Amino acid sequence: MSYQNEKIAFRPMEVSDLSSILDVEVNSFSAPWPKQAFYNELVRNQFAHYTVVTINDKVIGYCGLWIILDEAHITNIAIHPNYRGKGLGEATLMYVMETAKMLGANKMTLEVRVSNHIAQSLYKKMGFVPSGIRPKYYSDNQEDALIMWVTFNEKKAKSSTRD
Ligand SMILES: CC(C)(COP(=O)(O)OP(=O)(O)OC[C@H]1O[C@@H](n2cnc3c(N)ncnc32)[C@H](O)[C@@H]1OP(=O)(O)O)[C@@H](O)C(=O)NCCC(=O)NCCS
Repeated sequence: MSYQNEKIAFRPMEVSDLSSILDVEVNSFSAPWPKQAFYNELVRNQFAHYTVVTINDKVIGYCGLWIILDEAHITNIAIHPNYRGKGLGEATLMYVMETAKMLGANKMTLEVRVSNHIAQSLYKKMGFVPSGIRPKYYSDNQEDALIMWVTFNEKKAKSSTRD
């Protein structure tokens, strides 16, 4: 990462982060979530775990996660455009994948726009594999979603089938 002299940190998202998160959000998505949607996730959704990434304590990105039993679902990930291409998206996703494992998940899924090749490249790099299409999943432009999955304990699962 080319941020050697900066302090990069990850921590749970708080309600007081929402102004910074909205700045990331409106600069990242054609159909950004409103502030209330993040508020509901933080305050009302017992399955939700939201992480922020900071540079010198400034919030510059986030990733949302739901964990239901042993399945983790990435709801969204975004890095502010001013800070992209420096490894922060990858580091954030890696941190969230480790968090999911610690919380008991053994597989993870997400949906991504079929046109979003940058995000798909990130997910493939992290081991996600395309597994299907949700037709017209995105209501703003009727775009299809690519469904991707990664299994965390694949080696263990494979070796146990040989036992
Ligand atoms: C997707 C996103 C989070 C990546 O964050 P980032 O910090 O720029 O990504 P990183 O620098 O960590 O790059 C990690 C990997 O992502 C992919 N990637 C990042 N930028 C890319 C680009 N411009 N072109 C192609 N692939 C790219 C590559 O696989 C890269 O690995 P590499 O450097 O070994 O090639 C960021 O582009 C973003 O916020 N996009 C808008 C929101 C969005 O689309 N979120 C996904 C919703 S499903």
